[in-house]
Amino acid sequence: MTTGPDGMAVPFYAATGNEVALFEHAHRNRLPVLLKGPTGCGKTRFVAHMAARLGRPLHTVSCHDDLTAADLTGRYLLKGGDTVWADGPLTRAVREGAVCYLDEVVEARKDVTVVLHPLTDDRRILPLERTGETLEAPPDFMLVVSYNPGYQNILKSLKPSTRQRFVAISFDFPAPEAETAIVARESGLEHNQVAPLVRLANALRALKGQDLEEGVSTRLLIYCATLIRSGLPRGDAVLAAMVEPLTDDDEVKAALLRTAELTIG
Ligand SMILES: Nc1ncnc2c1ncn2[C@@H]1O[C@H](COP(=O)(O)OP(=O)(O)O)[C@@H](O)[C@H]1O
Ligand SMILES: [Mg+2]
Repeated sequence: MTTGPDGMAVPFYAATGNEVALFEHAHRNRLPVLLKGPTGCGKTRFVAHMAARLGRPLHTVSCHDDLTAADLTGRYLLKGGDTVWADGPLTRAVREGAVCYLDEVVEARKDVTVVLHPLTDDRRILPLERTGETLEAPPDFMLVVSYNPGYQNILKSLKPSTRQRFVAISFDFPAPEAETAIVARESGLEHNQVAPLVRLANALRALKGQDLEEGVSTRLLIYCATLIRSGLPRGDAVLAAMVEPLTDDDEVKAALLRTAELTIG
């Protein structure tokens, strides 16, 4: 097992381009990073891998439409008769010089991006209005955000004034050879049994368009291979992990199953 500078295990991540070097340069130069790409293609795993590699703690926040700036920065809580300040994950990451990862950042409410702005330019500060503190981010602190450009509607895409504050890295599904190796490793299923599933995934991804919002993710491929490895018949695993999660429409489902039959029999 690979270990990082602090002896912590580094989660497995198979690079598909220059993303590791890019991330290291960004960290060294105190630049925030934006990861773009479809669901389940390895963004979260990449961040976990890089944080461990750099020997920094990782604070991950899954953003959703109720997430407010206070959820990130912190708030006063009532304890006994007193009010005590509790840091949010962003504040904790700044204090520790950690990596803070905001997953699906476009889902968050508008006031969240306002908090991020002073952290993403050369001031690198986090003003905490409530406590009156202004934290200066230490050199090791790094802000990483991700979003999926595919399914968001126009209202939810990142504003240029926000996105132009990040170095951006585009992610996509790995090439077939690489994806086969990843799925085999993560599921324990033999390469020669994984290869046809990857072929099917790519055939299904080619159908992405009006009827399908998203193609089969690497994550779903791993689920499918895991079910087969556990003893479920391949047809059942394909239906449960590569067809049903993609659509609720019977006609589309039938088309996906036809593709499966033609591709892997
Ligand atoms: N390049 C890769 N190296 C190793 N594992 C990967 C890679 N890409 C995808 N995976 C696997 O796919 C799963 C889903 O990836 P994840 O990082 O959660 O996707 P995302 O954050 O892009 O939605 C991971 O848990 C991991 O098992
Ligand atoms: Mg993720």
